[in-house]
Amino acid sequence: MDRTLPLLIPRIMVRAHTAAAVVSRRPQSSAGRRADRIGHNRLMRLIHELEAEHELIDQVVGSFLGFATRVGCGDADLSAGAAYIRFFRLYAGDFHHAREEGVLFPALVEQVNLPADRGPIAVLTAEHRRMSAVLGQIESLLEGGLHEDGSCGRLKAFATEYGYALWHHIDAENSVLLPEAAERLRKRSVPELPTRAMTEAESDARRAGEELVRCYPPISDRDVIRGDGCVLCSAFADTCRGLEAEWWTESEWEELDDHLSS
Ligand SMILES: [Fe+2]
Ligand SMILES: [Fe+2]
Repeated sequence: MDRTLPLLIPRIMVRAHTAAAVVSRRPQSSAGRRADRIGHNRLMRLIHELEAEHELIDQVVGSFLGFATRVGCGDADLSAGAAYIRFFRLYAGDFHHAREEGVLFPALVEQVNLPADRGPIAVLTAEHRRMSAVLGQIESLLEGGLHEDGSCGRLKAFATEYGYALWHHIDAENSVLLPEAAERLRKRSVPELPTRAMTEAESDARRAGEELVRCYPPISDRDVIRGDGCVLCSAFADTCRGLEAEWWTESEWEELDDHLSS
């Protein structure tokens, strides 16, 4: 069959199909199921942590976009800018993105044989770099005190670029990377992925982020289109051909063929 077709199939249908196929092929004893569940929960700890961290990062992005608009009108304290930078550098970067790149991605490459040089892992890693560079531009503007002509407009533009990119990144990870990673690691019986506690500085940055959300409530930006799946990812059909083309194995394609013909 034409293997570009599944890209148009709603993800929920594909996931429901693959999960059902796995269960029907591998009957298990209750002890086996329990052992699997314990292993899965341990494995899932890092995945759950990453998902939970996304929730706060998502909120702080919305808060930051509001701040970037208000500070240009003299309606926000410029010193809060440093706290946003600290949050995005230490909590979103050094703690969150670093565990994705340092633990989750290597596990997917080494234990699931997924490609590192193309597809979701390459795209998401490149996005971490690009967002970090934009954050550097924001940091320079804030350190300059926004005194130069046009600096408030540039801050708003960079904040929008950074915020929208991070929101889309989170949507792609929540809807594609994390559920697909969990499923593939489970199938390979990977017992547990290491995680770590925050450093004191990262923990301070997290508290600062929570405080910023209270001081500058997240805005709902109607100009950004958010949603799940590959089709809303900016890399789709550009540097990434989509989950099915990049990650699916022969057996997954066969399961889909079976499903569509049944
Ligand atoms: Fe990421
Ligand atoms: Fe993430």
